[in-house]
Amino acid sequence: MKQTKRYLDGIVYQIYPRSFADSNGDGIGDIPGIVSKLDYLKGLGVSIIWLSPVYPTPNADFGYDISDYCSINPEFGTLEDMDRLIAEAGRRSIKIIMDLVVNHTSDEHPWFKASKDKDSPYHDYYIYRKGKKPGVPPNNWTSNFGGPAWEYVPSLDEWYLHLFSKKQPDLNWHNPKVLEEVEAILRFWLDRGIYGFRCDVINQIYKESLDDGKWKPWLIGQEHYLMKEGNHEILRRLHEDVFSRYDCMTVGETYDVDYANARRFLDGELDMVFQFDTMGADKRLLPIFVRKHWKKRFKKTLVEWEKQVDWNAVYFENHDQKRSISRFVNPRYRDLGAKMLATLLLTLRGTPFIYQGEEIGMADFHRPFKKKEFKDPVNFWLYGLLRKLGFGEKRSLRYVNNMNRDHARLPMQWSNSPAAGFSSNQATWLPVNDDYKSYNVKIESEDPNSILSYYKKLIALRKSDPALVRGSFEAIDTSSDIFAYYRLNDGNIRFVLVNLSDRRVVLPRSISEMRGKVLLSNYEGAGFTFKKFLRPYESLIVELTA
Ligand code: GLC
Ligand code: CA
Repeated sequence: MKQTKRYLDGIVYQIYPRSFADSNGDGIGDIPGIVSKLDYLKGLGVSIIWLSPVYPTPNADFGYDISDYCSINPEFGTLEDMDRLIAEAGRRSIKIIMDLVVNHTSDEHPWFKASKDKDSPYHDYYIYRKGKKPGVPPNNWTSNFGGPAWEYVPSLDEWYLHLFSKKQPDLNWHNPKVLEEVEAILRFWLDRGIYGFRCDVINQIYKESLDDGKWKPWLIGQEHYLMKEGNHEILRRLHEDVFSRYDCMTVGETYDVDYANARRFLDGELDMVFQFDTMGADKRLLPIFVRKHWKKRFKKTLVEWEKQVDWNAVYFENHDQKRSISRFVNPRYRDLGAKMLATLLLTLRGTPFIYQGEEIGMADFHRPFKKKEFKDPVNFWLYGLLRKLGFGEKRSLRYVNNMNRDHARLPMQWSNSPAAGFSSNQATWLPVNDDYKSYNVKIESEDPNSILSYYKKLIALRKSDPALVRGSFEAIDTSSDIFAYYRLNDGNIRFVLVNLSDRRVVLPRSISEMRGKVLLSNYEGAGFTFKKFLRPYESLIVELTA
């Protein structure tokens, strides 16, 4: 039975295995590569690793299309390698969570292959329907990766639903067999020593009806499958049958989640959820349009989520987002800005999720990707769509690059060696960024003022200070350039004060009259008592004194 809630005090580090460390020189990261970096992660202070998918896959979505849930992608290693990773991590008190992708499988999964026989029990593992009329899909839903959400199978004269690419057919969660299969997969990994799961697009698995959706410019049909009652029921079942019986954690990728549904997910369904409001702060209408004025929303969403749920999953980066410093920081102040974001990430109330490379201040690729350099399949249809809508080549490329997930998937920068120490092979699957000689693990480990050294100090401080982990959260009202909050625990008060902007900002009286001792700052020798203003991106963690 579940007793400990280790994840509450833990720090999660997300690894995108393809881009983390390559052990055999094929230009692709792998599991032995991860094993070789466990000491580094231990030194950083990480207690939980989230592995993006490591299962066999045809790579239509780089692992988010799984063709076998109980095995390992041969590009990444073997099941024995995975066991060794679990054991070696365990020796360092690090737990591993895996990615659970069960909204869909790969079209190369044996279930899907078998489903093309109408008489097979697997036919009902997926969502097949007759078209409205010949050549017309069963409804008007659109896919996350562009175009209609249905693919026609001539041999069946039926269409199957795919909310992502056509190589990712959606599972039919109305079929109790699907639940049984997934429970068996969960037990398989939990029994092997896995500590839990990050549950991919878990708030859309249950399609309540297949009626036409209301017209929208993006994702038609959502009102029929996003966060439906049946979705909550499935998650309650999984929790009761499986998760509640292990010492484990779950975090849901719940895009567009609202407070009410989040509270339901957090009550006997999942341990944490990722909210999408904060990462939408610099987006306008569609993810391809960037908003310059993001600070107010950024702060407001974080504060509001702290109020609305008891425990957050705090993140600014993952494998689907551009790098945070490329979105929120003026490049002139790259280091200060990265440390400012780190300060928030590690002191907001919740479990922090660090994405590989964030701790060394990795940035987006130094220039927009050209079309022939794209790897993420999303880029291709988006580019095609924009061109079809009449946008020029340059403009289309700019829009695509505003959300291009390849930016976050560049190889991890380990050292000054060729290919940044990621691989012995210079032909890496995505290019190494051109700043790797100034931003890498080796060089930053040796520099006490580096972003990495700041992360280490910050993590050490957090671990030694219960107020920063379990303490309550209370924001104070300020202009949108400033983000200020208290963390209170057992009479201990910590005050976190950061400047979100690249300018000097005068502090309001209520703050400039405070006194306290600085526990950590991104400016050397920074003081706090009677402080009049903050320098660009200045961040302070303060112990208040009377
Ligand atoms: C999630 C994953 C993303 C993937 C999609 C489909 O959003 O984070 O990388 O493309 O689900 O599985
Ligand atoms: Ca490799």
